[in-house]
Amino acid sequence: MEQEPRSDTGGTAELPPGCTWVDDPRAEHLRDYFALTDVALRRVVEPERGLFMAESDKVIRRALSTGHRLRSLLMTPRWVHEWPDLLASAREHAAPVYVAAPQVAEAMTGFHLHRGVLAAMHRPEPLPLEQVLAGARRVAVLEDIVDHTNVGAVFRSAAALGVDAVLVTPRCADPLYRRAVRVSMGTVFQVPWTRIDPWPAGVATLQEIGFTVAALALAKDAVTLEDLEREPPDRLALVLGTEGDGLARDTVRAADVVVRIPMGGGVDSLNVAAASAVAFWAVRPHN
Ligand SMILES: C[S@@+](CC[C@H](N)C(=O)[O-])C[C@H]1O[C@@H](n2cnc3c(N)ncnc32)[C@H](O)[C@@H]1O
Repeated sequence: MEQEPRSDTGGTAELPPGCTWVDDPRAEHLRDYFALTDVALRRVVEPERGLFMAESDKVIRRALSTGHRLRSLLMTPRWVHEWPDLLASAREHAAPVYVAAPQVAEAMTGFHLHRGVLAAMHRPEPLPLEQVLAGARRVAVLEDIVDHTNVGAVFRSAAALGVDAVLVTPRCADPLYRRAVRVSMGTVFQVPWTRIDPWPAGVATLQEIGFTVAALALAKDAVTLEDLEREPPDRLALVLGTEGDGLARDTVRAADVVVRIPMGGGVDSLNVAAASAVAFWAVRPHN
């Protein structure tokens, strides 16, 4: 069990310079950290206020190493001497470092801070589509994916399996939501991404740029993934559908090709993140 100073004993004496002890979990200047488990609230307030959250020292380091900017850090006392590099980054970014006892941090955020540190980061402006697609040969399009875990897992596979960019449709869950960031292992900071809007009209945009658009769907008249693998186009956009209903009919209609991963064992479909990993690996460029 981790030993932490109690908030009512202060603890400020042992804090490194630049850290601020926090006793009031409702103090207005800490509002970036309020109610982090309220997904409906956070998905609105984070883009609105221009922030996103990163948790764990590793994910925060990854965000910093890819040029993202700190707004502030929240730590529990046990960890303030463990990560001098994070404190140095906070100084560099003129970002406050708040230190709170675990029970105060929990009252503020809604969960136990077992990773010891949370960062509020400035949300970057969305990248222009042309910039994200420049030079890309393999692109994943996530149509209306609801679950942040799936979004994070697709990014992780994309980073590992040679996908150059990810596009998310207007209603797709936010890749910078805390859970997506965590599940992606910080690869949402590494793989260039942006929203493609409007959609499915964006299928035509991708085709004009020179992409063959492949809809991953369970249609009976679809070609198999092996067929696509045999003659992969130079520039390929793989479109993955939402968890419940799969791809919209208009998307399937507009695509150049519909691709199916053959299923066995009486299973009708894969989880979307699993399907993405299989497809990314099959169509990875070999030169
Ligand atoms: C859980 S599936 C949705 C299943 C949905 N009932 C349907 O009929 O498409 C989510 C997404 O994963 C992809 N997917 C899953 N299994 C697939 C398979 N066997 N072949 C091609 N795509 C698949 C598709 O893009 C699909 O839209």
